Amino acid sequence: MSRARRKIEHIAHALSTGSVGKHGFDDIVFVHQSLPNLRTNDIDLRTTLGELTLSSPLFINAMTGGGGRATLEINKGLAEAAKECRIAMAVGSQMAALKDANERPSFEIVRQVNPNGVIFANIGSEATVEDAKRVVDMIEANGLQIHLNVVQELIMPEGDRDFTGALRRIEQIVRHVDVPVIVKEVGFGMSKETAVQLADVGVMIVDVGGFGGTNFARIENQRRSAILSYFNEWGISTAASIVEVSQTVPHLSVIGSGGVRTAFDAAKAIALGAAAVGVAGSFLKLLIEEGAESLVEEIHALHTDLSLIMSALGAKTIEELRRVPLVIRGDTHHWLTERGFD
Ligand code: FNR
Repeated sequence: MSRARRKIEHIAHALSTGSVGKHGFDDIVFVHQSLPNLRTNDIDLRTTLGELTLSSPLFINAMTGGGGRATLEINKGLAEAAKECRIAMAVGSQMAALKDANERPSFEIVRQVNPNGVIFANIGSEATVEDAKRVVDMIEANGLQIHLNVVQELIMPEGDRDFTGALRRIEQIVRHVDVPVIVKEVGFGMSKETAVQLADVGVMIVDVGGFGGTNFARIENQRRSAILSYFNEWGISTAASIVEVSQTVPHLSVIGSGGVRTAFDAAKAIALGAAAVGVAGSFLKLLIEEGAESLVEEIHALHTDLSLIMSALGAKTIEELRRVPLVIRGDTHHWLTERGFD
């Protein structure tokens, strides 16, 4: 099957499969505060991610590019919404565009539409330093995402089977590329052990890409009628993963993503320790089914809702939201206790 065809199939399956798993946010309960002592209008949504300053903690996470007209239109719509709402955006994997110049326009459009926006390039952990520099240059990126997708590769019969050397390549990229590097999972979550390994080689920003949102195991299995079904429930929930990583390596900037759909989810991700929150599948669904204007409305609504939630918690800044009291119950509590967090 061609790569372009696979990309379109992924999008179609992502839309139909939707978010099915347990991201763990239902286990998080905020503790209401009756004396917030702030004005909702004074709430400041700015956040920092490593050395980057973002005007909002929300951003559009990596999805697509390459593969022809359809992905160009998607990236154009996502970039228009990102520009209008002043949020950051990541493009999908640019690995194919390194080899084939025909794949580039659907990435380049993102920078053309949004010349001053914060945009993240995206590659896999098989990439070299040279590849990394080229994908950053391709879209004049402000940051570089390196995705880790072992389970997705294992499920694809044509996928990679050699996972050696990824950490060493990441280390080289962090050293030699001049934009901040974000190492991200793609829906299986990130453990504290992985976070320590990444921090040890100089990574400053990680995206937990937790279980509970878009599920590539299900997507790949659906495409070939459930061969490796044991991977369908594989992964660390987004809520548990944020706590594992942020509490184990406090100097890391953590992005909470995987199944974030509402401002309530986003607020919980931040309160658990995230500095920013990525949304992929649910934004894509809205863009394709209802268009870029609906996506813009949705992002504005998410910002409004986040300000209201922060008001109720007495948190004027994202930094303050990260410190509000909360209660963790159910499976997430159980997971975190088993994993040595109290
Ligand atoms: C993705 N995702 C992804 N991630 C990445 O780093 N490079 C990529 O090329 C892609 N491609 C891609 C395509 C499609 C159609 C979807 C829906 C997602 C993964 C994405 O960035 C994110 O980590 C997961 O989707 C989990 O977030 P959501 O979708 O639950 O918000």
